[in-house]
Amino acid sequence: MSPPAKLHLGPKRRIALIYNAYEESSPESRTDHGGMWHLRQLVRSIARALRRLGHQVDLVPLADDLAAFQRRLLRLAPDVVFNQYDDVVHGALYEMRVATLVRMMGFPLTGSPALGLALSRYKFMGASLLQGAGIPIPANTRLLERIGDVDRYSWQFPVIVQPSQEHAGIGLDRESVVSSKTALRHKVRTIITTYRQPALVQRFLLGREFNAGIVGGKRPRVLPLAEVDFSRLPENIPPIMSYAAKFLEETTEYQRIRVTCPARVDPELAARIGDTAIRAFRAIGGWGYGRVDIRLDENNVPHVLEVNCNPLLEDGVGLARSARADGLRFPQLLHLILKAAFEGPPFDPNLPIWFPAGRGKPRAQLSS
Ligand SMILES: Nc1ncnc2c1ncn2[C@@H]1O[C@H](COP(=O)(O)OP(=O)(O)O)[C@@H](O)[C@H]1O
Ligand SMILES: [Mg+2]
Repeated sequence: MSPPAKLHLGPKRRIALIYNAYEESSPESRTDHGGMWHLRQLVRSIARALRRLGHQVDLVPLADDLAAFQRRLLRLAPDVVFNQYDDVVHGALYEMRVATLVRMMGFPLTGSPALGLALSRYKFMGASLLQGAGIPIPANTRLLERIGDVDRYSWQFPVIVQPSQEHAGIGLDRESVVSSKTALRHKVRTIITTYRQPALVQRFLLGREFNAGIVGGKRPRVLPLAEVDFSRLPENIPPIMSYAAKFLEETTEYQRIRVTCPARVDPELAARIGDTAIRAFRAIGGWGYGRVDIRLDENNVPHVLEVNCNPLLEDGVGLARSARADGLRFPQLLHLILKAAFEGPPFDPNLPIWFPAGRGKPRAQLSS
C-alpha cells in the first residue's frame, strides 16, 4: 500500500517498537485475545504498517532484563520509541514506569506520558480528578479497601463493582452488577481477595454506551463514535463489557454484544460526547491517542466510565476501526500517533540523564 497523498509524511524515522515479552507460565489458547500470542501478532502488524510508511523499525522486547533493554535502546538510538508495552500480569503497574524510563533516557515516546498511563490504571484517582475538573462521572464512585467499608456509605442500587487498578474487563463478570448490600459485600470480598487490590464501586448507568476515539497531539481530534450494542443480550446477563465480552469467543456475551461504528447518534449528542471525551483525555494528561468510554445516564448526560491512554492498536478494531470510519487507514493512524510523539506533551522538557560515557546523547530531541 502506498502512503496516502494527503498526509505530509515527513522524514523517514528510526523507530524502536517496545513491547512486553514477559512469558506467563500457564499455557494459553489462541482464542484468548488478551494472551501473549495475540500481543505478538499485534506488535508485528504495527511494525509492518510502520515499515509501509517507510520507517526503519526495530522490535525491542522487555521481559526480565532491564539493563539489556536500556543497552539495546542506546545502541539503536532511535528517533522515537513506539510504545506497545502493556502489563500482562494482574496488578502489575509497569506501563507508567517503562514510559518514565524511556523519557528519562531522552527519547520521544508515542502515546501518553507516565502520568496519563497511571491515571488510566488507578481508576479511582482518574475518576476523582475528572470529577474535580467538572466532568461527569457515575454517582456513588467509591474506593473500598476493606469489606467493612461497604457500611460506611449509603448506596443507590444497582451499582457495579470492579478491581480499581485493572483494565481490559479484568474482574468484570455476570456478578459485577449488584442490587443489594449483601451482594455488594460478597463481590467486594471477591475483588479484594482475588485481585489483591481495592474495589471500585459506582452507580450502574443503564444508558447507551459509547467509545470515543481520540488521535493527535496539540490538535486532538475525536473520531467517529462507536456504540456498544447490548440489545441482543439475554436479560440474565448484565449489559457490560465484561472480560468474557471482550475476549472469550465461546461465551454468549462475546457472541451477542456488538460494537457499531460509526454509531447512529444525532449530531448534537455526538458533539456533547466528543467534547466530554476530549476534556477527560486532557484532564488526565493523555496524549497522542486514546479512547474514552462513556455511558449516558437517564437524562442522556454523557458520563465518563474511564479514559484509556494507549488503547489497543489493532487494525480493524477499537480505535483503528473508528479511525477507518474517518477515512484513516491503519498506517495513517500510526503516522498521526508518531507526529503527536514528536510534538511531545507540553511542559515536558527533554533532560536525558542516562547515557554511559563515550556513547553520546541520544540523537533524538523533542521539537518543543
Ligand atoms: N458505572 C458504570 N455504569 C455502567 N456500566 C459500567 C460502569 N462502569 C463500567 N461499566 C461497564 O463495564 C465495562 C468496563 O468498565 P471500564 O471502566 O471501561 O473498565 P475496563 O478497563 O475493564 O474496560 C464498561 O465498558 C461498561 O460496559
Ligand atoms: Mg473500558
